[in-house]
Amino acid sequence: MTANNTASVPVITIDGPTASGKGTIARLLAQRLGWHILDSGALYRLVALAAEKHSIALDDVESLQPLAAHLDVEFVAGEGAEEMVVLLEGEDVTLELRAETCGNGASKVAALPAVRAALLERQRAFAQSPGLIADGRDMGTVVFPGAAVKVFLTASAGERARRRYNQLKDKGLDVTMRDLLEEIAERDERDCNRAASPLVPAEDAVVLDTSDLGIDEVVDHLWNLCQVRLN
Ligand code: DC
Repeated sequence: MTANNTASVPVITIDGPTASGKGTIARLLAQRLGWHILDSGALYRLVALAAEKHSIALDDVESLQPLAAHLDVEFVAGEGAEEMVVLLEGEDVTLELRAETCGNGASKVAALPAVRAALLERQRAFAQSPGLIADGRDMGTVVFPGAAVKVFLTASAGERARRRYNQLKDKGLDVTMRDLLEEIAERDERDCNRAASPLVPAEDAVVLDTSDLGIDEVVDHLWNLCQVRLN
């Protein structure tokens, strides 16, 4: 599937830094619209996880490129706004995927242009009728440049650390606020300053600072935006 195919299927892109709420917002909006969802970060996380399982170093481009191109992965939709179950080589890795170490590994492999190129068409193939909500870092700039609606969510680093802390605690994962703040700063730095598809808002993106907004307020805001832009 090429970028042109996305012209016939409406796409909403939601980009933003780590822990800006993209995943939750994308899920809730997709549920309201009855659309498909692409969690592109999960693909980079899966490459990092597969690399660990196959003892491949996170800078070994020669091995990471084919690994990314042939990832054996299946996304199984959850009930309603529930998170998707993710199977890597047939094994349920949903929880492992959310660990901060995995997110950090993802941020490293995501800086490699060969890995990004290997995942490009796989991401575009998610654009299926009746529509797609794609969340990530370069959805509006690179993967779906012709998207009907582009959103860029931000929030202060402190607020993002607080949200990620609650999210990981809820999943029973062990984290401290201090470690999270450090990791978020490190990932912001890497994701924003890499040469390949750095994290920047698309020129035609609506930028929304969610630091002081609740989840429902953000979803309502985007829902209203979609009503205007998609009709
Ligand atoms: O959204 P996330 O935290 O699951 O993403 C994990 C990492 O993957 C993130 O630090 C940067 C990278 N990523 C990317 O480079 N491009 C995307 N479209 C999505 C994620």
